[in-house]
Amino acid sequence: MILLKTNEEIELIRDSARLLGKTLAEVGRHIQPGVTTAYLDRIGEQFIRDNGAIPLCKGYEGFPSAFCISVNDVVVHGIPSDNFFIKEGDNVSLDCVIELNGYVSDSAYTFTCGETSPEMQRLLKVTKEALYIGLEKCKAGNRVGDIGHAVQQHCEKNGYSVVRELCGHGVGFKMHESPNVPNYGVPGTGPLLKEGLVIAVEPMVCMGSKNVVFSREDGWTCRTKDGKPAAHFEHTVAIGANGPDILTTFDFIENNK
Ligand code: CO
Repeated sequence: MILLKTNEEIELIRDSARLLGKTLAEVGRHIQPGVTTAYLDRIGEQFIRDNGAIPLCKGYEGFPSAFCISVNDVVVHGIPSDNFFIKEGDNVSLDCVIELNGYVSDSAYTFTCGETSPEMQRLLKVTKEALYIGLEKCKAGNRVGDIGHAVQQHCEKNGYSVVRELCGHGVGFKMHESPNVPNYGVPGTGPLLKEGLVIAVEPMVCMGSKNVVFSREDGWTCRTKDGKPAAHFEHTVAIGANGPDILTTFDFIENNK
């Protein structure tokens, strides 16, 4: 069932989403060569709890930590580890879901550690562009397939591929609500977007082929099959009558707010 949110509920999700934007920026500031992904996770979890929120990934279907931290060929769902040291040139995706006052937001950002290659920079740029191009379609009267098609087109036109196994989703009362929001699709198909629907749009984009494999050891870590890098950006957005109302924000990361 697709649940719509009232204006009051959207304002409460916006509060949650704003804190999440600050959280990603806070953790992002600590990315440097030699830090472990578990260290970043601890900083982030403390920040979330200090601000009165709950990290929802921790304990979700057995996921062990507050953040998914996915480096280079790990597309999503990387598990933070005390044995994983970030190095110069890595791409580091931080993905987090929080609940504040009962309302849930979900966002991800792919950072770089220090100087990185032009190829990596272009992957991150195109993936973020694809997110915003998808968000442009988040308007009442459009359909879920319009979002996926827009994301897919932009990525493929730039020589990249989009992951099929994982999707965006409804969000706000819980981490995962209906509908699914794939990063591929056919315009004019899929569930109708109505005012008050809140979804997470989250392109997962590969430099090489779209095929991914899930770790047989931990059941979570999702890597590209060809070992090439991938990137992931995600916003929580409310469908508006005239366009997207983007609730999470990268402002604290990009504009040093
Ligand atoms: Co999500």
